[in-house]
Amino acid sequence: MPHWMENSQSEIEKSGLLRKLRLLSSDVIDMSSNDYLGLRRHPEMVQAASEATQRFGTSSGSSRLISGNSDLYMQLESSLRNFKKVPSVLVASSGYALNVSLIPTLIKEGDAVIIDRLVHASLVDGAKLSGARLFVYEHADMNCLEKVLKRSERYRRRLIVTDSVFSMDGDIAPLNEIVYLAEKYSAETLIDEAHATGVIGPMGAGVVAELNLTDKVDYTTSTFSKALGSLGGFVASRHASAESYLLNSVRGVVFSTALPPSVIAASIKGVELAQGAVDKREYLLQLAKIVDKNAVSAIIPIVVGDEKKCVEISEILLAKGMFVPAVRFPTVARGASRLRVSVNANHSTDNVQLLIAEIRKIGL
Ligand SMILES: Cc1ncc(COP(=O)(O)O)c(C=O)c1O
Repeated sequence: MPHWMENSQSEIEKSGLLRKLRLLSSDVIDMSSNDYLGLRRHPEMVQAASEATQRFGTSSGSSRLISGNSDLYMQLESSLRNFKKVPSVLVASSGYALNVSLIPTLIKEGDAVIIDRLVHASLVDGAKLSGARLFVYEHADMNCLEKVLKRSERYRRRLIVTDSVFSMDGDIAPLNEIVYLAEKYSAETLIDEAHATGVIGPMGAGVVAELNLTDKVDYTTSTFSKALGSLGGFVASRHASAESYLLNSVRGVVFSTALPPSVIAASIKGVELAQGAVDKREYLLQLAKIVDKNAVSAIIPIVVGDEKKCVEISEILLAKGMFVPAVRFPTVARGASRLRVSVNANHSTDNVQLLIAEIRKIGL
């Protein structure tokens, strides 16, 4: 390891922030996954993926604009237009790759991008890459957002960016107010629904649909890798002409090999199953409310603060047969470490009760 890397690594280690890969044994109750509806092992998902591999092979061979496009891709995008009730949709190879390359497509130098302090890293990275002036407002603070909008009036165009369900705290952004302010100050909006799609809203269509904001929000991004049980990301837009523009300009799509047929087939099935998973969605929220009666999504944070203590508690829980990850800097602010509990529809109420009992014993 080069000297600089050794120094940097030992700094990370000293502050209790070194992360390591782990292999969870199959008898551990996994309370870390984003597979909220428990679809990734669903027999119909597995069958769709394996049939597509048998028929079309293991790779798409090139980017979509060359020869990587397929009927499966077209079918997926068509089902997403129905699902999100918008005219324009584009699939990318992951939620991260999408956010990082979509934002620089929407705004550029001379524009402003305005983000909530707690947005996901992919949105921060996309905002930085865009070359637009970056403004940050305090988490879910609408007074602060309005001040930023007043301060940034001289920029050519402005894009407000937020998660709908925040990935580390599971709370929901005040989207009605954000959309109101965006209209008042002529800004555009991009809402990341990664943790809402499949989990919240009519047929799992997300918070934007739940609040009847589909015709007002400019872009929503989502991922297939969470409740939809597959892999990939997609953007949905109310602007009819956006699809062709985005296909031609989102660099993570233009310059990247299309997803393999197995993944696209699983995504088609994931969207179908998620839409019908009405009971699972209800059950999921019931489980979340056992952990915290104020929970509004499948993510429930238990804030510990100190990094090392948080890791120790996570290890104690693992020894009791439950995996609840310790989320630390840089994912959350320093000193704001937390256990991030995420429930899924395959958990039993006993699983969740056991977690609560162990957490109480630890004194949290
Ligand atoms: C809010 C949010 N956006 C985007 C992503 C990235 O999605 P993907 O896992 O498909 O790259 C995540 C995943 O952690 C996320 O939490």
